Amino acid sequence: MDTKIYIDAIEKELALCCDEYFYKKSSVADAARYSLLNAGKRIRAILLFMTAEMCGKGWRKYLRLASAVEMIHCYSLIHDDLPCMDNDDMRRGKPSCHKAFGEDTALLAGDALIGLGLETIVNDENIDDLSKIRAMKAITRAMGPMGMIYGQELDLEYEDKVADKIILDTIHRHKTGRMISLCGILGSIDSKLTENQRNALELFFDNIGLVFQIVDDILDVEGDQRQLGKPVGSDSENNKSTFITLYGLQQSKVIANNLTQQANEALSAAFGDKSQALIKYTSYLLERKN
Ligand code: IPE
Ligand code: IPE
Ligand code: MG
Ligand code: MG
Ligand code: MG
Repeated sequence: MDTKIYIDAIEKELALCCDEYFYKKSSVADAARYSLLNAGKRIRAILLFMTAEMCGKGWRKYLRLASAVEMIHCYSLIHDDLPCMDNDDMRRGKPSCHKAFGEDTALLAGDALIGLGLETIVNDENIDDLSKIRAMKAITRAMGPMGMIYGQELDLEYEDKVADKIILDTIHRHKTGRMISLCGILGSIDSKLTENQRNALELFFDNIGLVFQIVDDILDVEGDQRQLGKPVGSDSENNKSTFITLYGLQQSKVIANNLTQQANEALSAAFGDKSQALIKYTSYLLERKN
């Protein structure tokens, strides 16, 4: 599947946003650009664009919303790598932000990307004010204390402690799932869908979000560091509760496959042929090596 057109467009848009909203001479801006631009897979932006297309909208209209998601996601990675969190030295094939710029500047670069993300939505000229409010509600919920932050909180709490199935599910659905489900909401923010379609879209993204973190856990065990662009073995070093520690590699793969199949069946039943691009993309998400 050719996602290059989406990736090129989002890279360009992210660079444009940095030019618009950062001072030229600022080490925090330099650090934020360093982490934000290039080498992200941009899966969140791609999922958002594919959702918009499935809903019969032109994807370019959502470039700023997708940029905002990538900015907030990138902030979460910068903070996630800090010594007080996962203490990881590599990200996207380069020294992580705090390794390149120091902890203080990296902390602020993460903060800056939160502001940049929200500002990008508020000033988005492609969507109307009602959609903007809806988008702000969705993104602040997804990133906030009942979203990604709660997942990160539990992720840290369950280092050196064994999470049961329900807790692990809660961790993964929050720390990673919420920001991915957000892409389904934003990609359909101004589309009229039937209740059945909304439910299917929600189920699809809930499943795909969980699968994304299961695959991330798998890659932390059997991935190749150079291909992955970040350290392998980080989870076991930090004694994290992961799908691998609870279910083992084989069973984790089976769970990821089943969740994906269920997601695809729901989407296909509700959207028919229009769901094909998203459904194809889930094979990549399952088989990805980085
Ligand atoms: C990594 O996300 C962190 C998780 C939520 C699992 P990605 O694997 O999407 O990272 P990038 O954006 O491609 O670097
Ligand atoms: C990250 O989970 C979730 C975030 C909100 C960043 P991980 O800690 O497993 O992500 P990686 O493996 O460092 O990318
Ligand atoms: Mg982490
Ligand atoms: Mg990490
Ligand atoms: Mg990981």
